Amino acid sequence: MVAYPNSVAVAEKATEEVGVATVPAHVAIIMDGNGRWAASRGLPRLAGHRAGAQAVRRTIEAAMRSHVGWLTLYAFSSENWRRPAGEVLDLTGLMRHYLRSEVAELVREGVRVRVIGARRRFEPDLQRELAEAERRTAHNTRLNLVMALSYGARDEIVEAARLAAIAVRDGRLDPAMLDETAFGELLSTTGIPDPDLIIRTSGEQRLSNFLLWQAAYAELMFLDVLWPDFSTEHFAAALAEFSRRERRYGARPA
Ligand code: IPE
Ligand code: IPE
Ligand code: MG
Repeated sequence: MVAYPNSVAVAEKATEEVGVATVPAHVAIIMDGNGRWAASRGLPRLAGHRAGAQAVRRTIEAAMRSHVGWLTLYAFSSENWRRPAGEVLDLTGLMRHYLRSEVAELVREGVRVRVIGARRRFEPDLQRELAEAERRTAHNTRLNLVMALSYGARDEIVEAARLAAIAVRDGRLDPAMLDETAFGELLSTTGIPDPDLIIRTSGEQRLSNFLLWQAAYAELMFLDVLWPDFSTEHFAAALAEFSRRERRYGARPA
């Protein structure tokens, strides 16, 4: 069973400040709809991705104000490499730009950055920027920001299975000892609590290879708003809805 360390600890404080009874310790967001946002304005897709980056800034602020301990943002999937080369270049260019312009602010604000996903697929200079963002923010504790970049849950699970197989082969792991906790520690999210709430914008109702293992008991919310239009009010409304949901984990209703 996975623990949810922050939920209870922050609940009382959060009740005063945002009027919500139970704040999720970990909110994960599938930031979808940039292309449609741009198309609806007759703009190139890049304009949508740029506006999406602004929504990222707002959302990080909102998460901090709400005392959410962990925020995971799905910005680029392992399948997004299938997009036209020009769009991939635009997206990686925006990541570079974002890191260069925001890391100093993240350091100041107390945000700790961690990247999950196949970062080896990015250009070496971008890999360096990612490592640098993690290094410079490593001492921060106010908000843990997990960036899912070139991330795919199936990739991640297969990699964990491979690590387990190697450990067994090398005599470091007894197969009988491989339980959910031990397996979870082989995933890229080791040390990160499972998401309590997963939000997807743009109206699509699917996970698109996001945190498949970790989402086992997450509350899911599919919002009819395109990511660039996602506001602090949408975030607050999602937290309010979360606090009204009853989580049972398979147990008998109270
Ligand atoms: C989300 O917006 C950003 C990424 C997946 C990189 P999309 O680019 O998927 O926008 P839509 O879904 O085409 O509107
Ligand atoms: C999911 O969005 C991935 C991210 C938001 C990063 P997509 O737009 O890639 O998902 P599909 O293709 O509609 O499932
Ligand atoms: Mg999309």
